[in-house]
Amino acid sequence: MIAAGRASAPERSLRILILGGTGSIGAAVVGELLAREHVVIGLARSERSAAGLRELGAMPIAGDIAAPQSWAAKLPELDGIIHVACDFDADMGGIDRHLLDILLPAFANQAKRPRFIYTGGCWLFGATGDAVATEETAFDPLPAFAWMVPNLRRVLAARAVDGIVIHPAMVYTPDGGVFRRFARDAAEGRVSRVVASEHVRWPLVHADDLASLYALALERAAPQSSYIGAAIEGFAVGRIARAFARRVGAPDLEPRIVSVDEIAAELGEWARGYALDQRLSGTRARQELGWQPRHVDPEREIVGLG
Ligand SMILES: NC(=O)c1ccc[n+]([C@@H]2O[C@H](COP(=O)([O-])OP(=O)(O)OC[C@H]3O[C@@H](n4cnc5c(N)ncnc54)[C@H](OP(=O)(O)O)[C@@H]3O)[C@@H](O)[C@H]2O)c1
Repeated sequence: MIAAGRASAPERSLRILILGGTGSIGAAVVGELLAREHVVIGLARSERSAAGLRELGAMPIAGDIAAPQSWAAKLPELDGIIHVACDFDADMGGIDRHLLDILLPAFANQAKRPRFIYTGGCWLFGATGDAVATEETAFDPLPAFAWMVPNLRRVLAARAVDGIVIHPAMVYTPDGGVFRRFARDAAEGRVSRVVASEHVRWPLVHADDLASLYALALERAAPQSSYIGAAIEGFAVGRIARAFARRVGAPDLEPRIVSVDEIAAELGEWARGYALDQRLSGTRARQELGWQPRHVDPEREIVGLG
């Protein structure tokens, strides 16, 4: 049975390959696809990932996105591919480019052109300030993720697949995703750290809502379309830190501001994205795909956990 709030199952079960099915986005997508009665095959680079996929209900196939030549030619017939894998390695752009070099031509041999959902991200839109970015807004990518722009354009232009792009907002669950750091600090009685300023706004989406967007895009989106997956346009990060302080009964705990250079030195250049003040619109997905995010009050979800 499909959970309340999810779109009903499609007329036909689709056979989908997911890259990154154990990740914070991917695991939710696998759950949603299975709930909609699709067949899910997941790429697994280790026995641990394979076990994680089996536990979710997906069928693992062995492979690494850094070595696609060893598995891309052996793929079964597919209706769709969802790419939400990322190595966060210094050469993540090179790995992704090489993956597309091998993977896209491999689909030319499929009987039917599959859909290929590529994952971009909110950090491709730069600091928007008070303006609200849409799918029509020119990219202004964070340097560490600039490689995604030519790669997503390649997927949209590829002849062997029907390319679709989803740009997730910052993905959370009340205790995980981009909230994990706050949740851990709060649980251990530490002051939460906020990058740059409490006033920095993050566009947000709950992992389950984002997963339903991937499923809707797979089932309904027109080829060559792009969607921003933002349920909440922009939410001040200080409010998130303070909600976690309230949750542990320490409402007066002031977040500690850390500089963007400090967080980049600690986590890598990609972490500069935490300092981007952004507002992003999820209107197109709501209007064209009937996307209905159910999680729109993160503060209540955080405090409610307590
Ligand atoms: N999370 C967000 O808030 C957010 C927002 C916007 C955009 N995005 C983008 O969405 C994508 C996924 O993000 P995420 O947060 O879900 O990442 P994540 O939680 O770190 O998951 C990454 C996934 O990729 C897999 N993976 C990594 N390296 C691999 C390799 N060499 N071979 C095969 N699989 C590999 C991991 O598998 P194992 O570890 O099990 O091996 C895992 O399933 C990234 O491109 C990210 O930039 C994320």
